[in-house]
Amino acid sequence: MDKMLVTGGKKLKGEVSTGGAKNAALPILFSTLLADGEHIFHNVPDLMDIKSTRDLLESFGCETEFSKNTLKILVRPLKTYEAHYDLVRKMRASILCLGPLLARHQQARVSMPGGCAIGSRPINYHLDAIGQLGCESEVTSGYVVAKTQGLKGARIIFDMPSVGATENLMMAAVLANGTTIIENAAKEPEIVDLADYLNKMGAKVSGAGRSIISIEGVKSLKPAEHTIIPDRIEAGTLLIAGAITGGSVKVNKCRPDHIEALISKMRESGFDIEVGEDCVSVSECKEWKAVDVTTAPHPAFPTDLQAQFMALMTQSKGSSIITETIFENRFMHVQELIRLNAEISPKTRVCIVRGEQGQLMGAPVMATDLRASACLVLAGLVAKGETCVNRIYHLDRGYEKLEDKLTKLGASIKRI
Ligand code: EPZ
Repeated sequence: MDKMLVTGGKKLKGEVSTGGAKNAALPILFSTLLADGEHIFHNVPDLMDIKSTRDLLESFGCETEFSKNTLKILVRPLKTYEAHYDLVRKMRASILCLGPLLARHQQARVSMPGGCAIGSRPINYHLDAIGQLGCESEVTSGYVVAKTQGLKGARIIFDMPSVGATENLMMAAVLANGTTIIENAAKEPEIVDLADYLNKMGAKVSGAGRSIISIEGVKSLKPAEHTIIPDRIEAGTLLIAGAITGGSVKVNKCRPDHIEALISKMRESGFDIEVGEDCVSVSECKEWKAVDVTTAPHPAFPTDLQAQFMALMTQSKGSSIITETIFENRFMHVQELIRLNAEISPKTRVCIVRGEQGQLMGAPVMATDLRASACLVLAGLVAKGETCVNRIYHLDRGYEKLEDKLTKLGASIKRI
């Protein structure tokens, strides 16, 4: 089982580049099921979750070829409409094949994704929304079995702006008969990237990125070519890596407009952040103050940066109140930070972080989920002595060669 060994105390300096966004690539790769032929994608990150998606698409009968962050997907008439448990359990986002399979083949049998460390991860919004387009679905022996006589456009209002449910519904609606209006839609940049690709294939999606999306169904779609947007969560993680070590780091090939909530919180805390066209940099800072953060749907502070920001607040001056409103159990990193001598008092959805520079002491810790593992690596960069992060496979699901990028910036980190 891979571990990451981090020796704290080095100030990070220099430039680093962001890769393609995992959470934009996953729905876009599933959208290829909507059109036979060869789809080509650039800036695709080389991650476990991309491999899992390729495995699932190949199990349907597609062919995939991946080299140097370019992924080709050849979609042919499928040999099955079933997403098997063994593949789905490796990656919850596999549920995103439901919409495209129903839109194109009027049937789907998709294993329930199951929960994960951060929450139960239900899919009721997905099933209710697609049901309103005219499909019956039931859950039998752990599988969602869905079929339709043909999807029809409808007006759907989400109770909450679920990212995955918005994406599944968009992909179901593009070939439906008539127009679909989605209200209270998720507004994440990944929704916009999916809409851009659907429109490149010939779909008629408008309003993505705002809370009302309208989709006019078309008869068929064609394969296209697309470059995945930069990963805003990786960009934010790298920026925090520079900040937490009191270093000066420039993150290139990113979209600063996608991490405005993080930038404004870091500025409020006392960091000097420069923003360019496709780059953002943080300069050396001796001391920064604690700020409060509440996670919420985009454009508010992203839940996927909550753990990383908490690591930064352990070094701040004062107490920071961190509130997690998206997932019910996304404080798994707190006990591990406390093992590193952080002073944090966790409640159910709120943590109070009493910051004090220099208080973290290296120790063995356990990664529990993707962003928690990033948080523990960041904490290791400033903890005195060695921090060994176990179960680092969580990190590989969402970060491509993070240790190489941090080493290039001067960190003392190695995978063992
Ligand atoms: C996406 O998950 C991301 N994953 C998550 O990133 C991210 O944290 C999340 O959006 C929120 O931004 C991908 O894009 C692959 P949601 P998703 O549906 O779509 C509840 C990472 O670290 N809910 O917006 O699953 C749900 O339980 C991952 O990269 C229902 O109750 O998120 C959660 O509390 C982690 N019923 C909240 O809504 C549903 O049918 C937000 O979930 C669906 C969701």
